[in-house]
Order: sequence, then structure tokens, then C-alpha cells
Amino acid sequence: MMESLLKEIDKYLMTNLYPSHRIFVKKAEGVYLYDIEGNRYLDFMTVVTTATLGHNFKGLGDEIKRVVDNIVAGNGYNFYTEELLNAARNVIKLFDDNIMYNKIHFKLSGSEGIELAIKLSKRFNKKSNIAMFMGGYHGRTYLTGLYHGIRRKEYGPLPPGVIILPFPYKYRSKFEEIKEEEYAKIIVEEIEQYIKNNSDLSCVISEPIQGIGGIVIPPSNFFSLLNKVLKEYGALLIMDEIQTGMGRTGKIWGFENFDTKPDIVVAAKGMTGGLPASAVITRGEIASSMQLNDEHSTFGASAIIMAAVAYSVSYFLKNKENLLDNVNKMGEYSLKRLKELQEEHPIIGEVRGKGLLIGIELVKNRKTKEPASKETSDICLNKALKKGLLVVPSGWYGNVIRFAPPFIVTREQIDEAVDILDKCFYEAEKESKIQ
Ligand SMILES: Cc1ncc(COP(=O)(O)O)c(C=O)c1O
Repeated sequence: MMESLLKEIDKYLMTNLYPSHRIFVKKAEGVYLYDIEGNRYLDFMTVVTTATLGHNFKGLGDEIKRVVDNIVAGNGYNFYTEELLNAARNVIKLFDDNIMYNKIHFKLSGSEGIELAIKLSKRFNKKSNIAMFMGGYHGRTYLTGLYHGIRRKEYGPLPPGVIILPFPYKYRSKFEEIKEEEYAKIIVEEIEQYIKNNSDLSCVISEPIQGIGGIVIPPSNFFSLLNKVLKEYGALLIMDEIQTGMGRTGKIWGFENFDTKPDIVVAAKGMTGGLPASAVITRGEIASSMQLNDEHSTFGASAIIMAAVAYSVSYFLKNKENLLDNVNKMGEYSLKRLKELQEEHPIIGEVRGKGLLIGIELVKNRKTKEPASKETSDICLNKALKKGLLVVPSGWYGNVIRFAPPFIVTREQIDEAVDILDKCFYEAEKESKIQ
């Protein structure tokens, strides 16, 4: 049955736009997805890190049904709903500092949230240029998508006023041997040169840890050094927490790993229960720079979506200690197991991660570090899939396996996933003669 449906998918859909796992999913539960033929998959991509609390976690479906039965169409801008207020109140509770982060606006997608953050920044400091990092990923709208990872030549030059800055990626730098703190200083000094020559810089946008860029973790002093420079030049730091927010890195916000406070935070994925929403959070001073009628979105912040956000965030807050504890313990356990695999497998160049956001960088040769991009894609979309594991490729060169299970994952499920990857690596090494 699956084969004939896949033929129809190819007939109607633009399947050339994204490398999908070629299965038809029927049911989702906890850490598992099930296809229409009853096959079970361990979901270690967490449907691109949205199902962080587990698929269909307790009560989410009932809460959504409650609102569906009293459906209020449209958005949360032309009038308000209690669901909108609850969502706003709960997301703000995720921050310790309610002076720095006390105003929120909801959008439908991560990309839209990033675009609003940029507009807020430009309105606030009346400067016009923006900077993003090499390897950063902020979505696929026209602005955010023009630059993602390695810029696509086909779309022409970058829009005027967009600057691309170097990001500290130690494994692929010539500074692999020096201390992290020193490396951060070198990169920030380089960044300062760009900023000096750009007096009109409004903001720098960054993920705390590059996700789609391949789980690239900057040194722990990087953002505090960077933010200090930005403040000297009157520029804001926008933190894209779309993937890292609400616990993924073992702390509520990814930026908490880096001893700095961004001016604007954009969150999405994990806090939404899988429904389309993002949140832009900042302080009153910045929020008030926007004017009436500056923002709208027909379906944004509708009651159904806001109920899912309010419920998911409240569920997280109620179970925060246990969930974060599991993220940290299972994260450490996964790193340990994957580093053991690295000793066995020449294809693994580096294993790195924080909490349950882990990357396995695959190379054809450990000395030259030539990216094993084709092998990575084949492992994720073919070899691991056939063995019942869902993982996705990421990275500047598409050669990093993103290992990011839901927060409720168990040791046994991690063992099962690692054992599947072990087999996949043996197969790939044999086929590509990697030794
Ligand atoms: C860090 C980051 N920023 C932005 C986005 C874009 O979000 P969306 O796909 O909802 O527009 C993503 C999506 O994967 C992301 O991981």
C-alpha cells in the first residue's frame, strides 16, 4: 500500500524541495512514530524538534479538542481570547528575568518571528543593517532563507544591509589546538572589525548553538564577549531559540549556557505542542518602538494554537525539574555511548552536544576531515530508516547527524538508537571504503 501512495505523492507534491523520510505516518506516541503498515520508528529527530515533550503527551489532545468544540476562527490580534492570555503569561514565566523579558508577540512560524525581531530592532535603534552568522539557520522566508548555511548562489546576492559574520566552529578551524576561551577572543576581535566598518549595524542574530548548521557549539565566553562589543556600537543581540528553547540544551534557554542576556528572544518548536506558533519576547522599551498596525497575520495566535502553547508550556513548567534532569542525564549518556562508537568508527570525526541536542559529524578521512555528506544523507534517509530510527542530516556540509530525541527518552531507547547507528556506520564504511 505504501508504495502506491508514494507514487501519488511524487505525482502531486514538489518532492524535490526537501529530503523526506519516505514513509506515511499514521500515529505518534511518546518517542515513537508508526506508519500505515504498522512499522514502529524511534523518533530521534522529534519531528524537527517540535515534539520535545513526547508525541501526544498527556492531556494535549484533550485540551486542543476542548477549544476545537468552541472554535473561534481567525487570529488573536483583532480580539483577544483567554487562550492567548494564558499562552503569553506562561511563556513569560519561562524567564527568570521579567524586567528584561516582559513583552511578547506571537507569530505563526519561526521565520516570521525572526523577521519581527529584526523589525523591532530596526525600529528601536533606528539603524538599518543586520548581521547573521555563517552556518546560521533562521528559516526560509525570503529574507531568512536567502542566507541559510551556505548561501544559495541561485537566489542572487544577499539583500543590501545583510552582513555575514564568522562563527566559532573549532573542529573546522585552524585553531583546534588552542583553548576555547582564547578561540572566542580571536573570533570576536575579527567580528569587531566588521562592526567597526559598519556604523549602521542594528542587530546580530544568532542561535546559541547552531542546530541545522550541525550542532556547532561556541565557546562558553563567546556570546558575553560578543554582546559587550555590540553594546559599544549600539547594536542588539537577537537570540534565535527556535530549536534550543524550553529545555533542549539542559537549561530552559540556550543562552543560559553562555552567561549573557540577549535583547530579543525568538522561541517556537518545543513550546507549541506541534502547532504553528512562534513567540518574540523582549523588554517594554524595545516593544514600544513598534507602532499600531505594524504587525498582523491572518491566522496568527488563533485560540487553538494558543491553547496548545499555553498547555505545553504549563506542562513543561509543572514537570520542569524532572524533564531537565532527564535531558541532562540522557544527554550525557548519549554523548558517552556515541563517543564509544567514535573509537570504533573512522567515519565519525566528532561527537558534540549539550543536553539532548547532539551532533555526530561524519568524515571520509579523519585527517583531511573531508565531509561524508552523501553517506550522512544515506544513513539518515535510508539505512537508519529501514532499521526503525528517524534522524536527520544537518551541518554546513550536510554531514552531521542530528541526534535530538524527545525529553522523555529512556536509556533503553538511546541504546537501541546507538546500536542502529553502529550498524549503519559499519555499512557506510564498508561501502565507501572509509578506514
Ligand atoms: C534555529 C531555527 N531558526 C528558525 C527556524 C525556522 O522556523 P520555521 O521553519 O518555523 O519558519 C528553524 C527551523 O528549523 C530553526 O531551527
